Amino acid sequence: MAEKTLDDLFLDTLKDIYYAEKQILKALPKMARASQSEDGKAAFLKHKEQTEGQIERLQQVFELVGKPARGKTCEAIQGIIAEAEEIMDEFKGSVALDAGLIASAQAVEHYEIARYGTLKSWAGQLGLNDAIPLLDANLQEELETDQLLTQLGEASANPKGTKKSA
Ligand SMILES: [Fe+2]
Ligand SMILES: [Fe+2]
Repeated sequence: MAEKTLDDLFLDTLKDIYYAEKQILKALPKMARASQSEDGKAAFLKHKEQTEGQIERLQQVFELVGKPARGKTCEAIQGIIAEAEEIMDEFKGSVALDAGLIASAQAVEHYEIARYGTLKSWAGQLGLNDAIPLLDANLQEELETDQLLTQLGEASANPKGTKKSA
C-alpha cells in the first residue's frame, strides 16, 4: 500500500466539508422556519444561498485536483446538526429559542472555519494555487456569517431570552 501524503489528506478533508455543506444546506431552511425573529430567518436564508455557491466552489476544487466531487460522511457535522435539532425541539415556543438557534449555527460556522482554514493552508503547501481563492472565498463567508450571528444574538436574541413571556 502506498504511503499516504498530504495530497490524500487534502482530498479526504475536501470530501468531508463537501458532505458537511450539503447537510448544512438541508438544515438551514429548517432553522429559518424555526426562528422566531425575522432577522434570524433572513440570516439563515441568506446563508443557505451562500452555501449553494460554496458547494459550487468546492466542485471547482475537485475539478482542479482531477477528482469526482464526492462527499464522505462527516460525523462531526451530523452531531452538530443533531444538537441543533435537539435545541429546536426542547426550546420550541420559549423566549430562548432564537439564542439557541444562533448558538447552534455558530457551532456549524466554527466547524467550517476550521476546515476551510486548514484546506487553504494545505492548498498553499501543495501548490494548488487556483484552489486558494476558492477556499478563501468560502472561509470569508463563514467568518462573516459567524460575526453576523454574534451581532444578532447580542442585539436581540440574547436579551429577549432572559425575559419570561407573559
Ligand atoms: Fe458553508
Ligand atoms: Fe456556514
